This record gives sequence, structure tokens and C-alpha cells, in this order.
Amino acid sequence: APTATVAAEAAPQAPAAPAAPREVTVLFGSQTGNGSGLAKKLAKRLEEQQVKADVLSMSDFKPNNLKKIENLLIIVSTHGEGEPPDNAISFHEFLHSKRAPKLDSLNYSVLSLGDTSYEFFCQTGKDFDGRLAELGASRLAERADCDVDFDETAGEWMKAVTEALSATPAAAASAADSAAPLSADPESEYSRSYPFRAEVLENVNLNGRGSARETRHLELSLEGSGLVYEPGDSLGVYPHNHPRLVDEIIAEMGWDAQENVNTGKNGSAPLREALYEYFEITVLTKPLLEQAAKLTGSEKLARLVSPEAAAELREYVGSRDLLDLIRDFGLQGRPAAELTGILRKIPARLYSIASSPQATPDEVHLTVRSVRYAGGGRDRYGVCSVQMAERLEPGDSLPVFVQHNPNFKLPQNPDTPIILIGPGTGVAPFRSFLAEREETGARGQSWLFYGDQHFATDFLYQVEWQRWIKDGVLSRMDVAFSRDTEEKVYVQHRMLERSRELYEWIDGGAAVYVCGDEKHMAHDVHSALETIIAQGGGLSPEQASEYLLRMQQEKRYQRDVY
Ligand code: 2AM
Repeated sequence: APTATVAAEAAPQAPAAPAAPREVTVLFGSQTGNGSGLAKKLAKRLEEQQVKADVLSMSDFKPNNLKKIENLLIIVSTHGEGEPPDNAISFHEFLHSKRAPKLDSLNYSVLSLGDTSYEFFCQTGKDFDGRLAELGASRLAERADCDVDFDETAGEWMKAVTEALSATPAAAASAADSAAPLSADPESEYSRSYPFRAEVLENVNLNGRGSARETRHLELSLEGSGLVYEPGDSLGVYPHNHPRLVDEIIAEMGWDAQENVNTGKNGSAPLREALYEYFEITVLTKPLLEQAAKLTGSEKLARLVSPEAAAELREYVGSRDLLDLIRDFGLQGRPAAELTGILRKIPARLYSIASSPQATPDEVHLTVRSVRYAGGGRDRYGVCSVQMAERLEPGDSLPVFVQHNPNFKLPQNPDTPIILIGPGTGVAPFRSFLAEREETGARGQSWLFYGDQHFATDFLYQVEWQRWIKDGVLSRMDVAFSRDTEEKVYVQHRMLERSRELYEWIDGGAAVYVCGDEKHMAHDVHSALETIIAQGGGLSPEQASEYLLRMQQEKRYQRDVY
């Protein structure tokens, strides 16, 4: 009998030489670290299927190598108004230029990361996908576009590409089905999909009396979580909606607050609790409006999501929430299960961590500005920031996870000088950087540019910077208080005043970090850096912008902007 078994097993195996293992290049482009995290997990899954995966940040990939590779997988997020993240800019530009080669023998697939509440949802992923096809490459699998809660879509895409590349697709498929959630962290049992409940140790307002601002300094305990982070990483926080808005929605709809509704995969909760903790009710997305249009048959709503009404849609979703949608399109009286069935899960908010794990082990500090404004005759609140300001006390807890950000890291060499540009809450990671450098005894020079509205009330962490200056941890500091003088002064004005010295630092190898508002501040600071480099190095504007791009590629110019 044993002989027969061997014969039966051996029979179908032709004595052909084993095929060469497949190889694939995995490129990621992302600002927050989601891209690199997913790329690493994909590589692991591919390698389990004997596919050799070479994982690279897009900025480290030499486009000349495109012709030499057979299989390419791209994981890329989208920023701002449909723009590529910093580490994807060069490759994106190259592919769309005339220099891009024909790619007839390339197989590829794209995973795009995005947020359906943005108009140009997953635009960068769509760009890469379309352009590679135009250049003659063939899709290994269809592009997948992920919303903020990316686990499921990304998992399906990984399964598809692993199957396509594996010599044994069936084995690859069953391995994918039993794999751990993609957001799982190898260091801790807690992750985006299974957050840790961190206890609040401290929660104080950093702004002085009379300020137009309220900025909370939060200290949370990570004790027992196994969560680890480095300066430059962010903390993800799942917020609770404002109870007033929840109650108004329930009343407007005429719902029973205790009715049980489904929350995601296999959970359920009483309606009030589900709206409070689980569903997004403050941000409207196009898919939500499309589904609401289908449910209600409202022509007005169908028109709003039609391609012709893009500008109106942008205006509408920019300042409306679920209560507005209900009122404006007469959704009152529809069943709770129906409407909650089309709501998105509330996305986590990411905050740049303001503490150093070396200096304050088992703690994580955040610097969070409260967002409050009036719109459409109602007070509107930033969900997470106002929860922190109004409804969170020491002893309470928050569901959190660590979001690693490999694109915002202190230089490897502790002697490298650093230039830190962080007005407002953008200063948070620099408190972490300096605390870390102090704790580890790093000797590199540091120069901080900070700004906010008023010196007297808005100088966040003032005594800490002063102490670090006294102790030599911080070498220089320039401040721009925009509303203390007739003319507005911003951080970039202070930078331009120090143009010559800044150039000397940069030319001498300093690394430049920018954190904070993307749309205005980071853009203006970028222009100021171009000017400083052009003046200091006697370069043309084009050469100066290439110089900055090179710095970006060498990781000497890093941004954490939002
Ligand atoms: P403002 O509120 O007076 O306009 C932190 O929010 C600081 O950044 C504030 O002083 C704010 O000034 C300032 N700020 C606003 N727009 C900016 C820009 N484009 N560049 C730099 N700083 C800016």
C-alpha cells in the first residue's frame, strides 16, 4: 500500500524543471505610513507564496529600472486636491512625462488609499492606474480604491494580486482568507481595527484667558498596551459624536433610541449608542448621498450627485452634516436600519504625537486645537477635538492606536542639525523631537520656528522651549505672532529674515521639518525655502526647486501636514 500512495502522488507531477520564483516590485507612496505598512504586509503574504517581493518607497525607486521589471504593485494615497503624497511626487511626474518608456511587458496593479469625503477621491491611484495602461502595461488585477477604513478592500486586493502572482493560486487564496487583519501591529495586540482604551491622565487648556483659541494638552496612558512609538509617529483616536447632534437626529427622524441596529460585520447596538460611537454623522460623502438618492428616489438629490453638479456638491458637503441632509431632502420617517445601513463607520482622527517615549515611557501626549464654528444657523463642532475639550476628564478613556510614520523621523545621526517649522499645533511633534534629543543626549543643533496669533495667550509650551534653550537642547527659536502687530507676521516671514543663516544650516546638511496646516502654511513655507535656497546658493528658481526635491528624496526635507 505505501508504494501505491507514493506512485499516485508522484504521477501527476511532470519531471519538468521547477519554474523560476516570480519576482515583484512593490512601491508605496504615502504621507502617513499606511502605505508602507500595507506594502510590508503584502510582501510578507507574497513571500509566503514563494513570490519574491522587493518593497521600496517610490522616492527610492529609480524610474530607469521600470523597463527591467516584470511585475509592479503600487500602493498609493492621495493628498489634498487629488495630489500625490511627497514621496510619490517624482515618480508620478516621471510617469506622466514624455520620458516615460513604453511598458508593454510590464504587469501591474494599483491599490489606492483615500477618503470618500474628498472630491478627488483616490485620484493619485487612478492616475497611476490609467497612465500605466496607456504606456502599454497589463493589469494583474483591477485597481482597488479604499475609503478610510481600508482593511477589507485592501485585503481583497491583496488576495487578488497574490493569486495572480502565485504559482498555486488556490493556496494563495485560502492563505489570504485566514490572514490576520491588515492593520494588525506586530508589536502589540492593539491596532486600528482593535484599539486600546487609553486612560486620560491629564487634560488642560494651553491657551490663556481671552484667547480665541482653545488647545488641549492631553496625556494618555499606554501602560499595559504593548504599543510602542517613535517621535514623528501619530496616534489614532476614535471619537464619540456630540450627544446633542445624536439626539437631534433621532428626534428629527422620529426614531426609537433603543431600537437595535447593525453596526458593521456582526455587531449590533441600540440606535442611540450606535450613532454616538459607531457611525459618522458629521461628514457627508458622495457615496452616502448617492445611496440616499437611490433609497429615497429624490430627484433633487440625484441631481446633486450627478457629474454636472460637482461644484454644487463640493459646496454642499463642505459645510453640512447628516441632520442637514435629513432636513434638506425630507428623509424624516425613514426606518433606522435603512439609513444607518448606508452610513460610514466613524474614521479615527490622527494626531501627531507630542511626547518622547524615552522621556515619558508608557505615556503619549497630544496637542489638540478645538474646532468650533457656526454654519447654517447652528453651532458646529470638530468631533474629536470638542469631545476632548468638553467631555473628557482624567480617569476617562479613549480608544487609540499608534500610526507609525516612517516619513517623519529624526535624522539617524544625532549630530545632524534640525530646522523645525511648526506654527500652531504643528509644533506638537517638535516637542517630541526635542524631548527625545534631550533624553538621548543628542548633540546636533536645532532651530525652531513657531507662530500663532498672540504672544500673551497662544504661546504653546512656552516654558518648555525656554528651558530647552537654557539647557542647550534647543539652539535657536524664532517666533511669529500674527495678530500682535498691524501687519501679519507668519513663520515664513521670520525664515526669510534669517535667509542667509538658514541657507548656511541647510547647505551644511541640516534636515528641515514642517508640520501643520497644508493648504496655506506648508505651501507658503515651501516657497520661502525655495527663495532661501535660490538666494543662498545663487540658483535659478527651477534649480532651487530641484534642490528641495532632492532634499525630499534624501529625507532631509520631511513634512507632516494636514
Ligand atoms: P492667523 O490666524 O493670524 O491668520 C497658527 O495657526 C498660526 O499660523 C497663526 O498665527 C495663523 O495666523 C498662522 N497662519 C495662517 N495662515 C498662514 C500661512 N499661510 N502661513 C503661515 N502661517 C499662517
